[in-house]
Amino acid sequence: MTATKGLEGIVATTSSISSIIDGVLTYRGINIDDLAENASYEEVVYLLWFGKLPNRTELNDLIVKLSQHASLPEQVVDLIRATPKDVNTMAALRTFVSALAMYDEEANEMDTDANVRKAIRLQAQLPSIVATFSRIREGKEPVAPKEGAGVAENFLYMLTGQQPEAIAVEAMNKALVLHADHELNASTFASRVTVATLSDIYSGVVSAIGALKGPLHGGANEAVMAMLEEVGSFSNVEPYIQDKLNNKEKIMGFGHRVYKNGDPRAKHLQKMSQQLGKLTGNTEWYEMSVKIEELVTGMKGLKPNVDFYSASVYTSLQIPRDLFTPIFAISRVSGWTAHILEQYENNRLIRPRAEYTGPSHQAYVPIEDR
Ligand code: ACO
Repeated sequence: MTATKGLEGIVATTSSISSIIDGVLTYRGINIDDLAENASYEEVVYLLWFGKLPNRTELNDLIVKLSQHASLPEQVVDLIRATPKDVNTMAALRTFVSALAMYDEEANEMDTDANVRKAIRLQAQLPSIVATFSRIREGKEPVAPKEGAGVAENFLYMLTGQQPEAIAVEAMNKALVLHADHELNASTFASRVTVATLSDIYSGVVSAIGALKGPLHGGANEAVMAMLEEVGSFSNVEPYIQDKLNNKEKIMGFGHRVYKNGDPRAKHLQKMSQQLGKLTGNTEWYEMSVKIEELVTGMKGLKPNVDFYSASVYTSLQIPRDLFTPIFAISRVSGWTAHILEQYENNRLIRPRAEYTGPSHQAYVPIEDR
C-alpha cells in the first residue's frame, strides 16, 4: 500500500453535481461563466439540489421558503449574545450551526424529504447567523429577514439594517453563485465522509465549516485582505512580493490543486472588483491586486484562485474582513447539502487505508523501565 500525499489525483466518488474538466467548471453541466452572467443564486441552489433549473413557480417558491425560514431560534440568538465578541468568526459559525440542530425537531430524521427541508433551513439560516453575530458584536440589535427577498439582498439587509444598493446585491449574488459548489473540494469531502457514517446533515455541514476555515481553503480570502493591508500601498507591492517569494512563502489566493491554467471563477471576481472600486472611488485595492497577480504569475507561473479578487470585492462592499470566509460558507452550504443528499442516495461508508510508517515488532515496556 502506497499513500498519495493529499490524495492528489485520487477519484474518491462519483457525483453528478459539479465538474472540473479541462479547467472548465460546470454545475450540473452548465458552464460557470454562463451561470455567473445570468443566474440568480436561488436558481443555482435549486439546480444543485434538484438537478435542473427551476421554472418561475419553483423559483418563487424556493425564494419564499428561504426567506420564511431565515429567522433563528430564540435560543440560538441568546447563544450568539452570550458569545465573546472577539472569537474567530468561523469558530462562531461552526458552533451556532451545531446549535441549530438542537432546536430542530427533525434533526435526526433521515428520510429524503426531511433532509431536503433541513437543507432549505440551513441555507436560509446561515446568512442570518452571520448577520446576527456581526450586529450583536457591534452592539446592535439583529435585523429580521425580509420575506420574499433573495439570499444576497436579505443577507446585506440583515447585516446593515438598510436596503442595499442594486449594485451591491448584484455583486453579492455573483459571489454566491461563484462559490456555491466545487466538485470534491476539502470541505465537501469532509461533509461526505461525515454523513457516509449515516450521521445527520447538521454534522455534515459542521464538519465542512471546520474544513473551510483553514487558510489553504476558504480562509484564504481573509488572508488575501490581510496581505493587501500589510502591503499598504501600490509602491510597496513589488518589494513585498519579491521578499515573500525569495523566502519561499506562499502568496495567499494563488495556486490550486486542480486548476493549473487558472481558476475560471477568478476573472468574474476581478471584473467585479474593478467595477466596485470605480463606483466607490477607491481603486487602490484592485490596482494592488492586479500588480500582485502580474508579479506572482510572472515569477512563479501561479494564477489567482477564487479567493484572490473576492477579498477586494467584499472590502468594497464594506464587509469586515473576518466575515469573508463565513460568506463563503453562506454560499457553499448549498453545495455541501447537495453533496450530502447525493451521498445519502447511494451511500457506502468512506473508510480508506493508511500506509503505516511507524516502527514494528515493538514490545510493551513496563512503566518503571521506561
Ligand atoms: N504561493 C507561492 N507558492 C505556491 C503557492 C502560492 N500560493 N501555491 C503553491 N505554491 C508552490 C508550492 O510552494 C510548491 O512549490 P515547490 O514544489 O517548490 O515546493 C508548488 O507550488 C506546489 O504547491 P502545493 O502546496 O504542493 O500545491 P497543492 O496542490 O498541495 O496546494 C493550494 C494547493 C493549497 C491551493 C496551494 O496552492 C496554496 O497553498 N495556495 C495558497 C492558499 C490559497 O489560496 N488557498 C485557496 C485555494 S482555493 C479554495 O480552496 C477556495
